Amino acid sequence: MKRIPTGIPGLDELIEGGFPKGSVILLTGTCGTGKTLTSLQFLWYGIQQNENGVYISFEEPIEEVKKYSKLFGWDFEKAEKEGKAILVRYDPFHVEDIIELVTSSVRKINAKRLVIDSISALGMYIRDPSEVRRTIFNLLMNVYKLGCTTILTSEMLPDQIQLSRFGVEEFIVDGVIVFYYTKIDSYFARALTVWKMRYTHHSQKIHPYKITENGIVVFPHEESAIAHKV
Ligand SMILES: Nc1ncnc2c1ncn2[C@@H]1O[C@H](COP(=O)(O)OP(=O)(O)OP(=O)(O)O)[C@@H](O)[C@H]1O
Ligand SMILES: [Mg+2]
Repeated sequence: MKRIPTGIPGLDELIEGGFPKGSVILLTGTCGTGKTLTSLQFLWYGIQQNENGVYISFEEPIEEVKKYSKLFGWDFEKAEKEGKAILVRYDPFHVEDIIELVTSSVRKINAKRLVIDSISALGMYIRDPSEVRRTIFNLLMNVYKLGCTTILTSEMLPDQIQLSRFGVEEFIVDGVIVFYYTKIDSYFARALTVWKMRYTHHSQKIHPYKITENGIVVFPHEESAIAHKV
């Protein structure tokens, strides 16, 4: 199994060296846990390895995403000019066009890494829950065909039991990483766990992670305090 290193220090150690090549991985968690940052870090690392990347935003304007990335030293503006990246905001009012947008962006630069951030926004534009699920299913089936190693993000509500917003994403994807933000005494602890990773003997522990000025750092040899919370 060929592995694609994520570029997130510590994370690859939990998953036999990286995401399985061509897999689709869901990052899920409550708001502000670092899903967008993780996705951008994954893309930026790829660009440094000569693997072009596509970022599809369903929420934030691309200018914001670029500004945000720059704070961490990831110059996507430059990468785009060099033909190594495409960052595009998808207008969810035209749900039918989404597959076309993803496909043409990936083909244009022969991208190897793809991010769709976040799938939850679809729910705001499509009323009927079964229609949302159908759209997500369709989108993912087409994404698989592109062969990119892909990150998909999805928001969870605090105390939500199912792993994703629409309860369908986690079953279709190859891997799920859950990001937690949990109160311990007088502070909130950040931790993540690899919930599922097909073809992979992955860690089953809950690991702490930090958001630093260089991005996300996972501590593969530590167990989060939230694991011991009763
Ligand atoms: N320079 C920084 N240093 C440390 N932490 C930071 C820094 N910049 C952002 N953060 C943390 O990262 C969080 C945002 O991360 P990110 O946007 O990736 O989260 P998200 O999971 O995508 O959130 P959402 O669900 O709202 O899209 C902030 O709430 C803040 O806690
Ligand atoms: Mg986000």
